[in-house]
Order: sequence, then structure tokens, then C-alpha cells
Amino acid sequence: MPALPAPEREMSADTKLRVGQVGLGYWGRNLARVFDDVADLTWLCDTSETLREEFARRFPAARLTGDFEEMISSPDLDAVVVATPVPAHYPLARAALEAGKHVFVEKPPAMRVSEMEELIGLAEAGGLVLMPGHLLLYHPAVQKLKELVDSDELGEVLVVYGNRQNLGKIRKDENALWSLGVHDLSVILYLIQEEIAEASAHGHAFLNDGVEDVVFCYLRFASGKIAHMHLSWLDPHKMRRLTVVGRDKMAVFDDMELERKITVYEKAPEEPAQTYGEWRTRTGDIFSPKIPNDEPLRLECRRFLELVAGEGDRLRPAQDGLAVVRVLEQLQASLVATPA
Ligand SMILES: NC(=O)c1ccc[n+]([C@@H]2O[C@H](COP(=O)([O-])OP(=O)(O)OC[C@H]3O[C@@H](n4cnc5c(N)ncnc54)[C@H](O)[C@@H]3O)[C@@H](O)[C@H]2O)c1
Repeated sequence: MPALPAPEREMSADTKLRVGQVGLGYWGRNLARVFDDVADLTWLCDTSETLREEFARRFPAARLTGDFEEMISSPDLDAVVVATPVPAHYPLARAALEAGKHVFVEKPPAMRVSEMEELIGLAEAGGLVLMPGHLLLYHPAVQKLKELVDSDELGEVLVVYGNRQNLGKIRKDENALWSLGVHDLSVILYLIQEEIAEASAHGHAFLNDGVEDVVFCYLRFASGKIAHMHLSWLDPHKMRRLTVVGRDKMAVFDDMELERKITVYEKAPEEPAQTYGEWRTRTGDIFSPKIPNDEPLRLECRRFLELVAGEGDRLRPAQDGLAVVRVLEQLQASLVATPA
């Protein structure tokens, strides 16, 4: 492991973090907007000259470059935001950590467990933050879902399933599992904090060789709980939905809903004493708890600044990210081994 330079500055709540961002594409523009607001966006990097010109107009105080090495060797930088396609996350995050910068990296930070472990090792050795961009974990509706699960409001959780479908954005560098599944998986693992006993996936690459556009995943946890994910950018429905089926109640997080992000259904099977052995169903009220309207991306970026400033468990987000990569790796191995 190379010698690690110490982070340049001691961060505190009053210090504005100097952030450099690599990747100024579709998602990068959202990250740049928020980091410019909550931190000091000093550097912007993209290999596309057209994007550099556009961002130079939008962020006149930032320095623009197409050379990542030039950006990370700058002493005027505390942290690096990585918003490139997934395969580039690991080499860029590693180089930034080796240069002594805190790293916020879009999900997943690496495509192999061994690479993720290496990044965590570098962050630990350098006293640096490594935060994967698991956006949904900062969504107030997911926090509410977690509250419903942890407070036992739904009863024992039996099944969780995610629907993440749309027509587009058709990617050619990462398949639907790594691009879309990573979102649902991070939430499923957050809700059900158990070891995975089985993980399998089926899917098919219709448009670009080797890049599955449609993927179905099955997970079984140690206690017998099961989960499923339908991931696709070849679908007529735009769905961003997670359903949690409990023994007593069921809850749905629908991110396409403007107001009713969470709906709780008082629906459940029951086994009346007088007809023991014969299951019936019970249907009661349906209600939607109020969910704060805070922008998840802003909450996520603020969390990164708090971690850099020393608040909270610095290693936790990276460890959670490792758990996600571990399951993705298993699912990917199954996907390749069992083509549809
Ligand atoms: N959290 C979310 O909800 C969310 C949503 C969409 C995308 N994402 C993630 O954001 C990341 C970027 O996705 P996108 O849709 O913005 O992709 P994109 O293709 O639109 O943009 C990526 C940009 O990175 C640049 N780039 C690639 N390699 C580079 C390098 N080595 N040096 C400099 N620039 C480089 C490209 O030129 C491009 O402009 C992906 O990891 C994606 O999964 C997250």
C-alpha cells in the first residue's frame, strides 16, 4: 500500500469543504448543484469538452479540467465526488483516497468485494471518509419504512419486493442489476439486517451484448424472509416501488407518488381460533403517514459533510456499501451462470 498523505485540513462545522467532482453527466449535474450549495465546489472534471464548457458557465468559481490527476493533486481540495459510470468508480475513488482526499462515490463504489475492501482499507489507513451514494437511505420515506419495520408496526416481515422499471435510460457500461438494483438492494439490506442465505438472478441482454436490460432477482435471508427485485429499462411502466409484507400489516413506498409516498394497509392473513387451520384474510384501514418533503440528495450530501466533520460513525456507510457489493457480486455470478 502506498504511503498516504494526511488530509490537508482539519474539518469542523465552520469550515467549508473544498470539493472536486469528476463526472458531469446526467446525475453529476444534480450532485454539482447541491455540493455547490452546501460546500465549496472548487474543481470540476470531465473528459467531455462540451460538458466542461457548459459547467464553466454555470460554476464560474470552479476550475475545470479533463485530467483527473491534475484535480486530485491540487492542494486546494479536501474531498472528491465521483459521478462517472460504475466501472470507473473504483479506480477513481482509489486514486482520490491515495491522494488523501475524502471520497463521496456514486453507488456502488466498486464491482468486486476485494476492490471495495481495498477502498475501505485505504480510507481507514488515511482517516478518510468513503461514502457510497446510496441515495434512498437518506429518503425520508425510507426512514419511515424503517421505523414501521423496527417498531414492529407491520409485525414480522415476511416478504420485501422492489419494482424499478421504466423505458430508458438505456446504459451500455453497466447492466440493470448494477445500475438499478443497487438502489433497492441497499434499502432491502437496511430494512432486513440479516445474513443472506441465497441470492440468485435471471436476466437478458436484448440491446447491448453482455449488458442485461431486464433482471429478476431472488433473495432468501437466514430467517426465511424473502425478497425480490424486478429491474428493467425496457418497460412501459415507470415504477419506483418497494412493498413490505408483514404478518400484521403491509406497507408500500411509491416514489412516483407526490404526496402519498408511503401507504400502510391494514391487511393480513388470520387464522381464527374457531376455524383453526383455515386461513382467512382481514382488510382494515389504509393510511398514509406524513413524510417530510426534504430533498434526499441534499440530506445525503449533508451527511457526507457531517461525516467529514467528525460526526457519526465514519466507517458505517462504507461497511454498508460493502454488504451491498457482496450481494451484487453473488447476484451477478448467478446472472452469468444462468442466462435466460
Ligand atoms: N443516486 C441516483 O439516484 C443516481 C441516478 C442516476 C445515476 N446515478 C449514478 O451516477 C453515476 C453517473 O451516472 P450518469 O447517468 O450521470 O452517467 P453519464 O454517462 O450521464 O455521465 C458520466 C460522465 O462521466 C464522465 N466520465 C467518465 N469517465 C471519466 C473519467 N475517467 N474522467 C472524467 N470524466 C469521466 C463522462 O464523460 C460523462 O460525462 C453512475 O454511477 C450512476 O449509477 C445515480
